[in-house]
Amino acid sequence: MNEIKEVIAKMTLEDKIKLCSGANFWESESMEQYGIPSFFMSDGPHGLRTQKGESDHLGINQSEQSTCFPTASASAASWNPQLLRRMGEAIGEEALHYGVDVVLGPGVCMKRNPLCGRNFEYFSEDPYLAGVMGANWIRGVQSKGVGTSLKHYAANNQEQDRMMGDSMVDERALREIYLSAFEMAVKESRPDTVMCSYNKINGIFSSDNKKLLTDILREEWGFQGLVVTDWGAMNDRIKAFQAGCDLEMPSSSGMFDEAVKQAVEEGKLQETDIDTCVERIIRLAWKARETRSRHHDGYLLDVETHHDLAREIAEESAVLLKNENALLPLKKTARIALCGAMAETVRYQGAGSSHINPTRLSSLRAAMESAGGTLSYYPAYESDGERNAHELQRAVDGAKEAEVAVLVVGLPDSYESEGYDRKHMAMPESHCELVREIAKVNPNVVVVLMGGSPVEMPWLADAKAVLNLYLGGQAVGEAAAGLLYGDVNPSGKLAETYPAAYKDCSSSETFGVNPRQVEYAESIYIGYRYYEKAGIPVQFPFGYGLSYTQFVLSDLTVKSGENTVGTDFVWESHQKDARLIVSCKVKNTGDRAGAEVVQIYVSDRTPDIFKAEKELKGFCKVYLEAGEEKEVTVTLDGRSFAHYDVDTRNWEVLTGAYQILAGTSSADIRLMQDIRVQGTVDALKSEEIPSWYICPSGKPKVSDFERLYGQKITPFELEKPGEYTMLNTLNDMKDNPVVQQIMEGIKGGILQSCGGDENSSEFLFTTSIVFNTPLIRLVQQGGGATPLALMQAAVGAANNDPDAIAQLAEMMNHMQ
Ligand code: BGC
Repeated sequence: MNEIKEVIAKMTLEDKIKLCSGANFWESESMEQYGIPSFFMSDGPHGLRTQKGESDHLGINQSEQSTCFPTASASAASWNPQLLRRMGEAIGEEALHYGVDVVLGPGVCMKRNPLCGRNFEYFSEDPYLAGVMGANWIRGVQSKGVGTSLKHYAANNQEQDRMMGDSMVDERALREIYLSAFEMAVKESRPDTVMCSYNKINGIFSSDNKKLLTDILREEWGFQGLVVTDWGAMNDRIKAFQAGCDLEMPSSSGMFDEAVKQAVEEGKLQETDIDTCVERIIRLAWKARETRSRHHDGYLLDVETHHDLAREIAEESAVLLKNENALLPLKKTARIALCGAMAETVRYQGAGSSHINPTRLSSLRAAMESAGGTLSYYPAYESDGERNAHELQRAVDGAKEAEVAVLVVGLPDSYESEGYDRKHMAMPESHCELVREIAKVNPNVVVVLMGGSPVEMPWLADAKAVLNLYLGGQAVGEAAAGLLYGDVNPSGKLAETYPAAYKDCSSSETFGVNPRQVEYAESIYIGYRYYEKAGIPVQFPFGYGLSYTQFVLSDLTVKSGENTVGTDFVWESHQKDARLIVSCKVKNTGDRAGAEVVQIYVSDRTPDIFKAEKELKGFCKVYLEAGEEKEVTVTLDGRSFAHYDVDTRNWEVLTGAYQILAGTSSADIRLMQDIRVQGTVDALKSEEIPSWYICPSGKPKVSDFERLYGQKITPFELEKPGEYTMLNTLNDMKDNPVVQQIMEGIKGGILQSCGGDENSSEFLFTTSIVFNTPLIRLVQQGGGATPLALMQAAVGAANNDPDAIAQLAEMMNHMQ
């Protein structure tokens, strides 16, 4: 018997159950009598949000100061896995400093739709890119002995109704798109924990989902770590034990303990299922103890070095989208009108649980001034995006006199956040107006974009240059100044497509329409996979980004062992350790140093099943001095050519003709090599695939999806009075006057805690989260603020039960 098993053998059933739920908001239970210490968790993923005082999972209460790195949508655009690794190392060091044992990140969910409020926290629309970036971040953090939590597993692609939504995904899309990044990160970097999401996946809550938590995660991918719930995502504790969900966070104050004990006593739950979870919790607690023991004198924070790293990542992540007549870089002597309040109050991070209290913050205005720039600054609009006619006029007058107008626009804080989705893809009208009006008086307009996700750009023709900073972290101002003045050459590439208009997205007609029952009708066709296959022109393609220099790609060679692949070559993908080594040369033909990202895509030329035009399967970022040439190499294997076969329940490679493509964006393929592949299956069994998936045009119909999904979809209907349960939300029952009263009371409390500002993103997302959280979860997470009896009475009242109405009235009288 190993040491952990010996401990478990001594534990009472009650203690085992207790250990599987948190001690408080951030810590696991400690049980000194068994030698089990607690471990402490903090968000993640772009810096630490360590709360030593009042705690919350929404980023409202203050947290300790830590370095705020660019958010994932930005850092993914660096296409530089090494940078993600270094970011992870720095965050790991900050975790050691604050005594954090597990950092809650990274988020590798797919950007299914550009309006998801939390897209800024996710890397990409492409699972390969997200998987590589996530894996490297994990490696970095864990190299310091600190744990990570890969989140939110799985198919968590919207914020609205995130606790109730059912993501209905067909098996191929689930495996190929929504699980692949998790799979890569688990297999390649072994995160200590995986965080299960709030939502249901094909009808089963993630916390209760044995297929996801055990069959796939542990048995197929070999995950050895611990599964922790997202904060308050525990649905049914008994099913969750059976599914392999180890730790409930935060503490629900023993809410489920008695029922679990009874289930064991009645033989409905095996005690060994609990033991397995206990074992994983002890293993992590001991690892944390071991790491702490190595740093018992404390770990000093190197604030300066981490700030510099944040700047370096922001510099590499910025994407130059347009640069007509080489307007950028700017000369330091150029007289610049710097317009837009975001130049002063930079937007550098998103709202919610990833919100960081930065160690420093640089504004673009200050950074340009200290770089020696010659500027006049005009706020031009209010910081919340409201129009200010007077300030706009001042900016127009100032721009008339300037050589260049640099306009800082994008998405204000309240436009994107955890807890709610964006309603549209537009920037505030005041920002669009600024670009339009300034372009009338000054031909040299540079737009600097700040925001976590794509926006529509009706003003694009009015701008000569566009530099996209995303949410660039605390050093974004300095990074932007370096890029605008050419001290740094832009090298970021979009990790997501910028569609020309929201209506062009494959899920634009379904996203947010019925958030409780979300049909992923487009299947594998998200992002570039859809736009390319459906032939829809986009504003900026996946993988796109300009530089101040130019690169030429040449000499693509593909080798299998000693053989150079030619048209007649047949590659046996199923052979053990079969690998293809793809290489090409890249030359910097311009007159300044820079970096290019060589992207390797695989295209199936004779697909027997539905497939994207091509898929990213490798990439390499290369730095070149002016005139320099280097060779880059990427390795492909059988999986690079595979699809998930729903019949064999395995990854299979179809025998046939493929192309290996090397490009500098998904739309700019420079080199290609044909190759014939002997796969694992010759042709697929006859499948009745609806034609939309073979040749997508427009949007799929529910009937197409039903055939693919293999199930009839019953239209969702919200419960009515008389049918409500604790799984309903206050919003569901808001027509009831008594519930309205409760909501007003809660709103008042939230408003107070948000400093009385009804337009602040904190107020908007906190009310949105509280009102859209099932009542049972409010009780679990509320730490007593929303007591069980009150919520039960609210449900009764909404069901028009006179006793409950009377009881509720009495409770509310007491509370006043
Ligand atoms: C978020 C998680 C986060 C947790 C703890 C939840 O609301 O979804 O990403 O780690 O809170 O703050």
